Amino acid sequence: MSGWNDNATSYGDPEFSVFLRRAFARHLGFDDIDFRKPVIGICNTYSEVNRCHTHFPPLVEAVKRGVLMTGGIPLEFPTISLGEVFTSPTAMLYRNLAALDTEEMIRAQPLDGVVLVGGCDKTTPAQLMGAASADIPSILLTGGPMLNGEYEGRTLGACTDCRFYWQEYRAGRVDVQELEEINQALAASAGHCMVMGSASTMATVAEAMGMMLPGAAALPAPDNRRLRLAEETGRQIVSLVQAGLRPSQILTYEAFVNAIRVLQAVGGSTNAVIHLVAIAGRLGIDLPLSLFDELGRETPFLANLRPAGRFQMEDFAKAGGVPAVMKELEDLLHRDCITVTQHTVGENLAGFHRPQHEKYREIIAVRSHPLAENGGIAILTGNLAPNGAVIKPKAAAPQLLTHTGRAVVFDSVEDMEARIDEVKTTYIISIEYCII
Ligand code: FES
Repeated sequence: MSGWNDNATSYGDPEFSVFLRRAFARHLGFDDIDFRKPVIGICNTYSEVNRCHTHFPPLVEAVKRGVLMTGGIPLEFPTISLGEVFTSPTAMLYRNLAALDTEEMIRAQPLDGVVLVGGCDKTTPAQLMGAASADIPSILLTGGPMLNGEYEGRTLGACTDCRFYWQEYRAGRVDVQELEEINQALAASAGHCMVMGSASTMATVAEAMGMMLPGAAALPAPDNRRLRLAEETGRQIVSLVQAGLRPSQILTYEAFVNAIRVLQAVGGSTNAVIHLVAIAGRLGIDLPLSLFDELGRETPFLANLRPAGRFQMEDFAKAGGVPAVMKELEDLLHRDCITVTQHTVGENLAGFHRPQHEKYREIIAVRSHPLAENGGIAILTGNLAPNGAVIKPKAAAPQLLTHTGRAVVFDSVEDMEARIDEVKTTYIISIEYCII
């Protein structure tokens, strides 16, 4: 069977519906031989307004080549694109809308499988949410991070350094000309932000959950291996369709536990907690905040990545990326989880050899000498947050983890910017209604 023949637009009579659809498909250049092939949707979040996705066209072409080579029919379709810095008031407001768009377009069209192509912060979780609900064979391909920026010998990272250097400018330690030169080097190449922010984190956890090919999260966007990975992704989705392997079989409770372990080991973004809970919710899986805390207490912190460390995604990729972290954590992971390779996590890791040069151990620590004994994210509860609050202690200086001081509450980011200069360094800052 092929998607051409199933799930046709309804004209009352199912056979007439297929007859009519074939007439229109012929106009697209397809013939009888094609009507027997699996139809692979390529859910493309490319948009000229989303700068993190501007390099998608050749990636999508590579996916199509892979699909065609293995006997599928690739059909690209657009969904909402959420670029973090060009979406007002905040891209997070539209994540669920994007998830709905993804889910319904997968469901509504004659697809046997789908490749999800995303990258900027909210597109990856939205696509995974939609695919989890639609539940046809699916595989994710993120666009990859930017290359490192550099200014006067210092590595620049978007967008950890956007705020850092703006504050340096406000403090008078960077002048207008330096600020302009930094601005020109911050977003250094095609790709999403290259620190372990939300975009890199969601790619990382997606790979850890088995929804993306091994190694795909960290490879920089301009790296030629990403095009080959895209072609492999196209080949693999046809194989997934033939095997009938669906997201609900990959995204099990154990797969989410693996993702949380890796999240903790890489010191990923606190936003991942919100997104993982939402993806799991689409499958009826409950991930209580306490689970993140429990796993964090027994997962070593291994990846020395900004903003919780020194390096960036380009360096992480050279050190082995997500597979290297998973290899170090192997005995803590559920190794029998199936992945989009159609092999288990344990089988994938058995074929992986971590790059051996000593310098890579600075980027991804070995298990016997972790950067810290526990993970990057912790959950707090108390009178200020009775339902729990997520913090990233590894991104804070140790002296900030125990602090007594006056608290100043701002009711918006604008309020904070207007009054921040009145705040002394010993104060505790709280911003209400701030979701990024
Ligand atoms: Fe797209 Fe940072 S703006 S990932």
